[in-house]
Amino acid sequence: MSSIQTIQVHTLPSYEVTIGSGLLADCGQRLRRVLPLCRVAVIADSTVAPLYLEQVCSSLQAAGFSVCSYCFPAGERHKNMTTFAAILEFLAQQHLTRSDCVAALGGGVTGDMAGFAAACYLRGIRYVQLPTTLLSAVDSSVGGKTAIDLSAGKNLAGAFLQPAAVICDTDCLRSLPAAMFADGAAEAVKTGVLSDAQFFSDLEDGALTKAPEAVIARCVRYKAGVVERDETEQGERKLLNLGHTVGHAIERCSGYAIPHGHAVATGLAVLARSAEALGWTEEPVAARIAACLAENGLPTGTAYSAEALADAALADKKRMGDTITLVVPKRIGRCELKKIPVTELLPVIRAGLEE
Ligand code: GLY
Repeated sequence: MSSIQTIQVHTLPSYEVTIGSGLLADCGQRLRRVLPLCRVAVIADSTVAPLYLEQVCSSLQAAGFSVCSYCFPAGERHKNMTTFAAILEFLAQQHLTRSDCVAALGGGVTGDMAGFAAACYLRGIRYVQLPTTLLSAVDSSVGGKTAIDLSAGKNLAGAFLQPAAVICDTDCLRSLPAAMFADGAAEAVKTGVLSDAQFFSDLEDGALTKAPEAVIARCVRYKAGVVERDETEQGERKLLNLGHTVGHAIERCSGYAIPHGHAVATGLAVLARSAEALGWTEEPVAARIAACLAENGLPTGTAYSAEALADAALADKKRMGDTITLVVPKRIGRCELKKIPVTELLPVIRAGLEE
């Protein structure tokens, strides 16, 4: 059995991310160290529930927790007000109190939505993240961003609420279809472009297939540092949106049929090409980023027009009045924020669509 790694995230509250094999089987005992005995509502989608719900509920019960569970239909298009309201009603029907806890068992959609339900129910109760996808392991389960989508755009209603713990059982990655594994790879490649040229080279050399646990730990360590310095995205945390302006636009244009990581990969490739074409980079980056994404099973182009993408991007919450902040790769391992007038977004996207 591989070793278990723990990473402390020094926010308020501070919490531990535990990464390793076989962790779901004793998640009850692990959570007992950070939670009082209480009622735990486990939220999972219809893909994850048949795989892991019973194991998680049994482990929680064996540790002395009182457990209830709620299952919703899988897919980003269900990360909406209807499902969110149903989860809140469920928590109330189950008489959860302020001393109780929500457990988000699943990928990014589940973590975002269950976390937001925990943030709103009784004006906020504790929640824990039990990520089962690579995407939630490397990115969304850490940092306390919770949200649902509105018809006007992605993640437009949400809250910052840090989880009480994150337990990442890397055995779950084995059940992931290749496309879902690739989805998480996009956020790992994003982390490489943002943080570390050596880590990016490791990803080019297949680090995700050779040692996914090490990649998850590397991404979580980087993200923990950023979140500790800027929990509510006033500055530095905006860097984590690399690839997301165009990525969210692609998701929206596709009616959320294109998964988040695939859309972010394309958004990252587009922005890298734009940045290079517009002379914003210090070295050529676009071909290397596109090759690394493709090597990890991800797309780097889109059939949507620059006009459609710019329109969709302008509904994004990253817009502030008449400006929008882009994350621009300067070189591999270093990016910077660039505020542009919204009127410049269309030519920027156009410059990046030419592969
Ligand atoms: N996924 C970007 C962030 O958590 O800030």
